[in-house]
Amino acid sequence: MHATISSIGIYHPLKEIKNSYFEEFLETTDQWIKERTGIENRYYALENEYTSDLCVKAVEALVKNHTTNLQEVDFIIVATSTPDQTLPSVASRVQTRMNIPHAGCIDISAACGGFVYGIILAKGLIAAGTHRKIIVTGAETLSKVTDFTDRSSCILFGDGAGAVIVEASSENHLLKVITDTDGSYGKDLYLSNKNIPINGKPVIPDNNIHQNGRVVFKWAVSTLTKKIEELVSKNGITLEDIDYFIPHSANMRILETVCKELGIPMEKCLESIKNYGNTSAASIPLAWYNGITSGRIKPNDKLLLIGFGGGLTCAGICLQNNIEMK
Ligand code: ACO
Repeated sequence: MHATISSIGIYHPLKEIKNSYFEEFLETTDQWIKERTGIENRYYALENEYTSDLCVKAVEALVKNHTTNLQEVDFIIVATSTPDQTLPSVASRVQTRMNIPHAGCIDISAACGGFVYGIILAKGLIAAGTHRKIIVTGAETLSKVTDFTDRSSCILFGDGAGAVIVEASSENHLLKVITDTDGSYGKDLYLSNKNIPINGKPVIPDNNIHQNGRVVFKWAVSTLTKKIEELVSKNGITLEDIDYFIPHSANMRILETVCKELGIPMEKCLESIKNYGNTSAASIPLAWYNGITSGRIKPNDKLLLIGFGGGLTCAGICLQNNIEMK
């Protein structure tokens, strides 16, 4: 059985955070943040607003945008590094709040690669014939795990959510995929919530994200460049055959460097970094949604989605866009 994605919904919290916010308590400027990251704005969840709340709002938006029967959903995957709790899963909270009977539910942890990993897992379940209609959500409340004393990381993160439905189809819209990880970089990007060393590096458990920004930047550029080429060649196509590239929006300069190295015009690269910051697992659905609603992505366009992040891990898929808004 083949699979397609024909519906999408997004949500971002209402609290808007401009770069000037950080000027009030850090040695930084709006100009530095814009020039070094491309970020102008991000949104933060309220104190009592959690990742599951954002997921529910994204699924509600999906239902508004498309005609779909949630009662038929038989599996829910939530990709997040910021679950409300470890137990119960965010997915099971979504299941009960959306009144979806009997769906299997899991959360997956693949950081900024999580949304694409979720699509790949859903495609596999449908191909195996065990499931037919799967919600995949990428959602984060990174503002709750941000170290506001670290000027090189706190300016990056934002909160948001995106949800799609992957469903069985007679047409093959989800094409070939790639996955890869180099766990030796675990110490260069982690959320320190346990007093357990990572690859020999002692970790102070302050429940915040810590990163070696330059190392992640370099790894992201070289990995994306290699993996995008590998993915198109695995699909038997060329870079020119792709209508839009949607890489994880970690930093505008990463996207610009990769596009330059591969000769991809920036107009073909969709981002969510400018308005939402780095929203990790949510960044790709946010960019995809905005690409559709702005009229750039059309039905049947060929898209290449590629996520990368904490692990360090990476996952990509080529697909034919089957999403049209109501
Ligand atoms: N304002 C002003 N100056 C700053 C700031 C700031 N907010 N942050 C760092 N600087 C300074 C540094 O202190 C340094 O000063 P120095 O030269 O006097 O030492 C200078 O700017 C350059 O620092 P770099 O770290 O080299 O800055 P860079 O240009 O690499 O930008 C950044 C830093 C934005 C973190 C970049 O490396 C990056 O985006 N890396 C990738 C991050 C990423 O993708 N992380 C994934 C996280 S996703 C997730 O975990 C959910």
